[in-house]
Amino acid sequence: SRVVKLAVIPGDGIGPEVVAEAVKVLDAVTASSDVSFEKTPFSLGAGRFLETGDTLTDDDLAAIAEHDAILLGAVGGVPGDPRLKDANIERGLLLKLRFELDHYVNLRPSKLYPGATGPLADPGEIDFVVVREGTEGPYVGNGGSIRRGTAHEVANETSVNTAYGVERVVRYAFALAGRRRQKLTLVHKTNVLVHAGGMYKRIVDAVASEFPEVAVDYLHVDAATIFLVTNPGRFDVIVTDNLFGDILTDLAGAVTGGIGLAASGNINPDGAFPSMFEPVHGSAPDIAGSQKADPTAAILSVALLLDHLGLTDESARVTRAVEDDIANRDGQRTTAQIGDAIAARVQA
Ligand code: NAD
Ligand code: IPM
Ligand code: MN
Repeated sequence: SRVVKLAVIPGDGIGPEVVAEAVKVLDAVTASSDVSFEKTPFSLGAGRFLETGDTLTDDDLAAIAEHDAILLGAVGGVPGDPRLKDANIERGLLLKLRFELDHYVNLRPSKLYPGATGPLADPGEIDFVVVREGTEGPYVGNGGSIRRGTAHEVANETSVNTAYGVERVVRYAFALAGRRRQKLTLVHKTNVLVHAGGMYKRIVDAVASEFPEVAVDYLHVDAATIFLVTNPGRFDVIVTDNLFGDILTDLAGAVTGGIGLAASGNINPDGAFPSMFEPVHGSAPDIAGSQKADPTAAILSVALLLDHLGLTDESARVTRAVEDDIANRDGQRTTAQIGDAIAARVQA
């Protein structure tokens, strides 16, 4: 029987609360199958930094890289916590994992499940995937500042975009659109970010000729936010840069019933490194420790993880259990109650 080595990073805030439920559902769906998950917990995040001063050591990274996949809750302390002033957990841990493990596809599906209540009066059907570039753009950390703290301070954040990096994520997005409803929307800001945007546009146009069945269109990112609210049904696959993808997917989460439902995968499609699955949301310090977090995003991230590992049957069972749970929600439940309910449906 197959053994999958899974690195588990619960992280900070609500991270451990939602990961506990995601693991519960993973255990439930594999209880009767011939695949088993060997889980290694990694204590990483703001909590670890405050205890030891470490963010992600080379040993941590090497140990994590030995696994077949990674499940992560969320990392990051309370924004503005002075004790974390020099830590930058987000960059030193989360982005370091994404960059070192070459997670160049940040896959963020958005679906309005029947029964989910979003803020839109008449949303229609919503079912799209944001393919967010994961290793480049303004996230590379190639910036700096001079005369810091003075009236003449200059602060730069450089967006680094390579033809290699853009082409590989664009190809992934086209292939995905080909397997879905054959529609790809490039979102950027070509009217202002002429160099990076221009390159994205040229690469999309070039790759499009290899996917004649895929209809391609383009939107500036500001206009894309309009349509995500007024006509989200127009989207199938969106391909976009790292920062735009970050912003659009929080918006997409809100529109499809709340950020507590939004799952993601940080994928290394080549399989050279383990891919990492995590909710789109963060550590939510405002509700941490109170069992108020919705673990569904983490549970749907397990569905993405299972699918990535080729365990399509198990993945579908998790997704179906979540769909049933969403369709039958009423009243307030704790994080653990939602996890229990979904785990029970998985086993039913
Ligand atoms: P956040 O996503 O943590 O929270 C935004 C809002 O959404 C909050 O009101 C929160 O209570 C709510 N929310 C989030 N997840 C929820 C859930 N599962 N159920 C119900 N409500 C939920 O974003 P933030 O407040 O900007 O960031 C908090 C910390 O998390 C920061 O340190 C940030 O850097 C970090 N962060 C980490 C990740 C990650 O690890 N992948 C992602 C985003 C933010
Ligand atoms: C996310 C988060 C991260 C990002 C932060 C915490 C670095 O917001 O996963 O969406 O910007 O990618
Ligand atoms: Mn984000």
